[in-house]
Amino acid sequence: MGYKKKKFKDKKNIFIKVDQYITLRVLNIEDVGQDYINWINDYEVIKYTELRFTKSTRNDIKKFVLDNWVSDHNILFGIFFKNCHVGNIKLGPINWEHLRSEVSYIIGKKNIWGKGIGSKAVNSLVEFAFSVLGLQKINAGYYENNIGSQKVLERAGFQKEGVRFSNVIFDGQRVNSVEVGRINK
Ligand SMILES: CC(C)(COP(=O)(O)OP(=O)(O)OC[C@H]1O[C@@H](n2cnc3c(N)ncnc32)[C@H](O)[C@@H]1OP(=O)(O)O)[C@@H](O)C(=O)NCCC(=O)NCCS
Repeated sequence: MGYKKKKFKDKKNIFIKVDQYITLRVLNIEDVGQDYINWINDYEVIKYTELRFTKSTRNDIKKFVLDNWVSDHNILFGIFFKNCHVGNIKLGPINWEHLRSEVSYIIGKKNIWGKGIGSKAVNSLVEFAFSVLGLQKINAGYYENNIGSQKVLERAGFQKEGVRFSNVIFDGQRVNSVEVGRINK
């Protein structure tokens, strides 16, 4: 096992300081509080994600957190703003053969959208994935009408790689989805 992957094995202790107010820390089941349950079921928050198709109970979320906690291919971070859990960002699944991963994220507290938290969190996590875990490519995707997510990924240095036409159903309409990536140069 290489040094970088050993770092991953210690993942439960990973803590990323994004700036003075924002930190990323690996989530554990103690973090599954009522606020988290509320925003993961808030249609405005989840409407551009696959989460909108299911109602998530406390136990569903705990299972999700636990599955990620023990996973060899995923790291689920909470995004903490002024010590308050305001969202999640996931690195995974990681493909260790190709040193590549997906990233996905959600800011659950709508009153803090537009303050740069999403862009900074994604950028810091990608820098961490490159410098500490030794990954070389990070991929992400968004529905074409999700302008907030498009801006987050552009600001975090991702480039557009392709469009999957008419790929998802959003409010009864077929919508394109966009594939983006960032390479460690
Ligand atoms: C998309 C999301 C992560 C953006 O987080 P954020 O902390 O607001 O992002 P930032 O402040 O870094 O920047 C995003 C930009 O998009 C804008 N934006 C954020 N949410 C938006 C929305 N719902 N609609 C339109 N624009 C939005 C912000 O105002 C900002 O633009 P500006 O600086 O020009 O005003 C957040 O809105 C969110 O979690 N949405 C729901 C879940 C989601 O869509 N996840 C991504 C799935 S691919």
